[in-house]
Amino acid sequence: MNQQEVFDFDHLIIGSGLAGLGSALQLADAGGKVAVLSKRDAEEGSTRRAQGGIACVMTPEDSFDAHVQDTLNAGAGLCHEDVVRTIVESGPEAVKRLIARGVHFTTRGELGFSDHTDNFDLGREGGHTERRVLHAGDITGQDIERTLVEACRKHPNITMLEYHYAIDLIMARRHGNMEDNRCLGAYALDTVTQKVKTFRAYTTTLACGGAGKVYLYSSNPDIACGDGEAMGFRAGAKIANMEFIQFHPTILYDYNVRSFLISEAVRGEGAVLKVRCPDGSYREFMHKYHRMESLAPRDVVARAIDNEMKRTGQECVYLDIRHKSEEELKRRFPNIFAKCLEVGINMAKDLIPVVPAEHYVCGGVLTDVNGYTGIPGLYAAGECACTGLHGANRLASNSLLEALVVAELSAKHIENVLPKLKETAMDFMVPPWSCGNATNSDELVVITHNWEEIRRFMWDYVGIFRTTKRLERAKARIKLIRKEIEKYYWDFHVTPDLLDLRNIATTAELIIDCSLARKESRGLHYNADYPVLESEMNGVDTIVQRNLKYYD
Ligand code: FAD
Ligand code: SIN
Repeated sequence: MNQQEVFDFDHLIIGSGLAGLGSALQLADAGGKVAVLSKRDAEEGSTRRAQGGIACVMTPEDSFDAHVQDTLNAGAGLCHEDVVRTIVESGPEAVKRLIARGVHFTTRGELGFSDHTDNFDLGREGGHTERRVLHAGDITGQDIERTLVEACRKHPNITMLEYHYAIDLIMARRHGNMEDNRCLGAYALDTVTQKVKTFRAYTTTLACGGAGKVYLYSSNPDIACGDGEAMGFRAGAKIANMEFIQFHPTILYDYNVRSFLISEAVRGEGAVLKVRCPDGSYREFMHKYHRMESLAPRDVVARAIDNEMKRTGQECVYLDIRHKSEEELKRRFPNIFAKCLEVGINMAKDLIPVVPAEHYVCGGVLTDVNGYTGIPGLYAAGECACTGLHGANRLASNSLLEALVVAELSAKHIENVLPKLKETAMDFMVPPWSCGNATNSDELVVITHNWEEIRRFMWDYVGIFRTTKRLERAKARIKLIRKEIEKYYWDFHVTPDLLDLRNIATTAELIIDCSLARKESRGLHYNADYPVLESEMNGVDTIVQRNLKYYD
C-alpha cells in the first residue's frame, strides 16, 4: 500500500475539464510532454454538465464594452477591469480555435429560424444586456468535454491518467531558503492500485474545478471538493475571495433527481418565477426585487427565492415557460425537457419546481490573467482560480469563457518562462512521499460523520443568508473537525474519501475565514449584521495565505 513510484513530465495538469484540457493541448502542441490527472473518468467534472453555454461577443449589435460592463455590473465593484477586458476581448478568437478542434455550436437554422440560418443561435442569461451565449443545444459542456478529451487522448505528447487523485503539491525551497518557494509537481494516489506516485514536472497547473460538495445542496458533480484551493493553500499560494459562493437559483426540486440544473437560458427564453399562494394560485414575485425581474443577476434571484420560500414556508418556487410550445421547448432544451419528463413534468404544460443550490466558487487560488500564482512553476486555471474576472458575483456563462482563455494564456506564459525553470530545476530536491507509521483505518465512521456535518452546517450557517453569529458557530465547528481530520490523515493510509474530506474541510474553513473577514454585504456575500456595501471596500479582495514558517 502507498509506496513510491516516480514519473517525470515537462508539465503536470491536475484536472481534465475545459481549463486542464485546454492548457494541456496548447502545451503539448508546443512540444512539451504533458500528464493530465483526473480523479475519476477524464470526462467527469462540471464542464461536462454546462448547459447554458459560453458568453462571447459574436455580433455587430453586441460589443466588447457591453460585455465588459455587464461583467463589471454583476461583479459589484470587485472585478479587475484589465482582466475582464483581456478575457472578453480574447473570447472570439479562442472560441474559433475551439470550433476548429471540432466543437459544434447550434445555429439558428438548426432551431428552425428562417432568417440568418447560418449564424449561431445566441442565448440570453441573467445580467446580460445582449444575446451573447453560444450553446450546443442544452448540452454545451458535454460537446466541449467530449471533443477535448478525444483530442488529448490522440495527442502523442499527452498522457491521460484517470483515477489518479492528486494529494498535495510538491514544494521545495532552494538551499533551505524559506522565501524561495517553488512547485516541482505533485503526489497522487492511483485509486486503482492504491499506490502513491510522485509526479515531477517543471510546471504544475491546478485545474481542479469547483467546491460544491462543501455544501449540502449543489449543482456540482461529486469530484468538486475544493481540491485546487486546498492544495494551493497548503502549498503556500494566496487564496482570494472565497466568501463569494454563487448559488444557482433554479435546480430541479425532486426527491429522486439530485443536482439537476434548469438552465438560466430557460429564463432567457421567457420563463418567469412564481410562488404558490395559500389559495392555490401561482404569482410572479421578481418585480419586487429587481427591474430585470426573472432575468436579474443570480445573487438577486437566489436571495429573492430564499426569501419567498422562508416567507411562505414553501419548499420550492416554480418556473413557468408554458407560453412556449412542446415542439419549441424540445428543440431548444432537449436534455432539460427529457429530464423533466422523466419525473412527470411536461415543461409546456406544467410548472417546474426549483430551489437554489451551491453552483460556483468565484474565489480561488489567486492568479494573474495568465493563471500564474506568483510561485515559480505553479499555475491555476478554471473554477479553482481567482483571476479577478468575476469579482463578487460571476456573470452567467463567463466561467467557460474564463477557463478557455486563461488555459491558453497560461500555456503561453509557461512557454516563455520554461527555459529559466529548466535551468534551475536541478537545484531542487523532491522529497519522497512518506506514509510514516500509517495503517489501514478501522474507524471509517469518522469520515462519513464529519463529511455530513460540514456540508450541513455550511448550508445552514454559511449559505445565501449569513450573520456573524452563524459564521462564528461554523468557525468553531470547523476548527474541531479539521483537527480530528488532520490526526486521522497522519494515522491512516490515504483513501479517496479521506482526501475528499480533508479538502472539503480546508475549503470550508477558507470560505468561513473570508466571510468573517468581509465586514460588509457585496455581490454574493450577504451578512445581515453588515447589510450594506461599503464603498471604501471597492476593489479590495479578501486574501488568505498559510504561514510558510509552519509549513509541514
Ligand atoms: P471541471 O470541469 O469541474 O474539471 C475539474 C477536473 O479536476 C476534473 O477532471 C476532476 O477529476 C479533476 N480533479 C479535481 N480534483 C482533483 C484531484 N485532487 N486530483 C486529480 N484530479 C482532480 N459555466 C458556464 O460558463 N456556462 C454554463 O452554461 C455553465 N453551466 C453549468 C452547469 C452546471 C450543472 C455546473 C455544475 C456548472 C456550470 N457552469 C457553467 C460552470 C462551469 O461548468 C465550470 O465552472 C467549469 O466547467 C469548470 O471547469 P474546470 O476545468 O475548472 O473544472
Ligand atoms: C446555466 O445554464 O444556468 C448555467 C450557466 C452558468 O452557470 O454560467
